Amino acid sequence: MSNEIIAPKGLAGVIVDDSSISKVDVEINQLIYRGYDMKELTEKSYFLEVAYLLLHGELPKKKELDEFLLFEREHREIPEEVYNIYKSVPKYAHPMDSLRLGVTFLGILDKHNTLGDTSREETRAKAKNLLAKIPTLIANGYRVSHGMPVVKPRKDLDFSRNFLHMITGKDTLDDLVVKTFDVTMILYAEHGFNASTFAGRVTASTLSDYYSAVASAIGTLKGPLHGGANEQVMYMLQEIGNKDTAAAYIKDKLAKKDKIMGFGHRLYRTGDSRTPIIKELGWNLAKKLGNTRWNEIADVVEETMKTEKNIFPNLDFPTATAYYLMGIPIELYTPLFAASRITGWSAHIIEQFENNRLIRPGSRYVGPAKRNYIALEKR
Ligand SMILES: CC(C)(COP(=O)(O)OP(=O)(O)OC[C@H]1O[C@@H](n2cnc3c(N)ncnc32)[C@H](O)[C@@H]1OP(=O)(O)O)[C@@H](O)C(=O)NCCC(=O)NCCS
Repeated sequence: MSNEIIAPKGLAGVIVDDSSISKVDVEINQLIYRGYDMKELTEKSYFLEVAYLLLHGELPKKKELDEFLLFEREHREIPEEVYNIYKSVPKYAHPMDSLRLGVTFLGILDKHNTLGDTSREETRAKAKNLLAKIPTLIANGYRVSHGMPVVKPRKDLDFSRNFLHMITGKDTLDDLVVKTFDVTMILYAEHGFNASTFAGRVTASTLSDYYSAVASAIGTLKGPLHGGANEQVMYMLQEIGNKDTAAAYIKDKLAKKDKIMGFGHRLYRTGDSRTPIIKELGWNLAKKLGNTRWNEIADVVEETMKTEKNIFPNLDFPTATAYYLMGIPIELYTPLFAASRITGWSAHIIEQFENNRLIRPGSRYVGPAKRNYIALEKR
């Protein structure tokens, strides 16, 4: 008798390990980071403080926070070799591939990237460095591969303002734009054993290096069923183009059994707790900027999905329209998700290293029964 457990397809509903990083409570529609309600963090904190919380497990004291913020500002620049590599990246390359390339190359350049040191201190040091550099990789990787001038990181700007400055090239940015952007960073930061985090943990469980685990996570996040949904949402809204045709467009897609991007979630069945926060900020932004067209289309899509399928938007849905209003190129939406989720991934890689057992499930063989080899001339 075998004592194997046959897991449901896609591991739906399976708890694979303990974690003290975040809790998705679907019963009361709440997301908690290290014990703190994510909603309260979006109201009272800001992304880098939340990043510290995720990486260290506790909110920082004043001195700890000052050091963390200073480190981030001073480590934003990427080596010249990385800019050179990006010169050979074609314009048509997806920025998630460029990001994976950039992270891999930073790992290659890192003298401390030796196998064997999986200590909390070493992993956290690498994570802090990558957190500071990823915005520059994303913004300037995109710029260089598109033949646009590099916009160097600016130490006088906070994380979100500097990131937006490098992407858009603008010197002055609206406070509501920066606030909304920073809140998206908080909301994207961590979400339990989602697919990319799990991929990162699988890689870490082989005792591979930190950068390899992050590269696995980036590759997994790229897919449209995961982080890649946010850019697909905006392409869909552009295709709809007009709020009067939105309901018919969605009904038609549903009739063809197409998935509507930015809707549904493996865990949440009655709505994603993060969505209303960005929806409200995004609407405020649209009104302030005098462009409510996309939010109006999005509202019709949301309403239609509710009445037709009783399926609710996930975080990627309102984030797409908010990023569009900020003037961010659509292909950069998923990399932005990665720039935030690097905090959650890193916390999970640390957790995996500290309490490791190789993640290696089995499979049930359903192929042909054993048969004899047939010589080529007899096939
Ligand atoms: C997120 C997602 C992959 C979750 O998948 P899942 O947990 O395996 O859910 P299922 O595919 O089993 O969906 C259950 C039912 O809802 C339907 N459904 C789920 N999401 C849907 C969507 N976005 N559009 C249309 N129907 C959807 C499925 O077709 C299925 O219907 P059925 O029972 O009639 O076959 C899925 O909802 C999806 O593909 N969403 C769009 C991509 C997206 O926004 N991803 C970002 C996630 S944060």
